[in-house]
Amino acid sequence: MHRLLTDVLWIVVVVLGGSLGCAQVTAHAPSSPKASLNPNRTLQVLVTYHSLSGHTEQMAKSVQEGAQSVDGTRVLLKKVGQVKADDLFASDAIVVGSPVYWSNMSGEVKTFFDRWQFEFGVFPEFKMRNKVGAAFATGGQVSSGKEVTMLTIVAAMLGNQMIVVSDGGAFGASATTEGDSPGIDEHERAAARALGKRVAEVAGMVKRGMSP
Ligand SMILES: Cc1cc2nc3c(=O)[nH]c(=O)nc-3n(C[C@H](O)[C@H](O)[C@H](O)COP(=O)(O)O)c2cc1C
Repeated sequence: MHRLLTDVLWIVVVVLGGSLGCAQVTAHAPSSPKASLNPNRTLQVLVTYHSLSGHTEQMAKSVQEGAQSVDGTRVLLKKVGQVKADDLFASDAIVVGSPVYWSNMSGEVKTFFDRWQFEFGVFPEFKMRNKVGAAFATGGQVSSGKEVTMLTIVAAMLGNQMIVVSDGGAFGASATTEGDSPGIDEHERAAARALGKRVAEVAGMVKRGMSP
């Protein structure tokens, strides 16, 4: 009888220990989150920006045109403050534009990225993983922070395990808006269109590559 009890106890210990062990392994396994791409066939690109005097908004519209030139692409154009969780998560690609403020992205754009966590809870699952991302910027001067601005935007995207692409310029599309500049010229609009087109093309490749 004593032997039987001991055997039963051992079985309970082994079974319980095994399940707890598994739970621990699951909890500590390196995260390999599933891509959160939208399952529809239509590709959705979110073009979002901050703009007070309208220059960055003009660039955003050209990015939109470029993305829409790719078949089967739907573009959502929104100011950063108006973006909702659904807009973000239902998009296969996100293109973010900012005016240069003190050689960096504007506070509104930074707040938008912070909302990804505070409001949308992207971490620890890395909910933005494998979405395509890109940046554009406008700045008053030729050389006073446009590239830093685009790089800090793509840095936020890389931190979210997104797939970052560029076109129109090495780090994205940009335009100079003050001084002798006539505002956004045709060359700068073309750069923004090229960026939008490349984003939609690459997002399409990723989406097709990941579909079952
Ligand atoms: C607070 C503030 C800071 C700025 N800092 C810079 C700067 O560091 N470098 C630059 O090139 N332009 C700077 N600018 C100019 C804007 O980047 C430029 O006018 C931009 O095109 C404005 O974009 P928007 O028309 O979309 O609002 C600054 C503007 C403001 C209001």
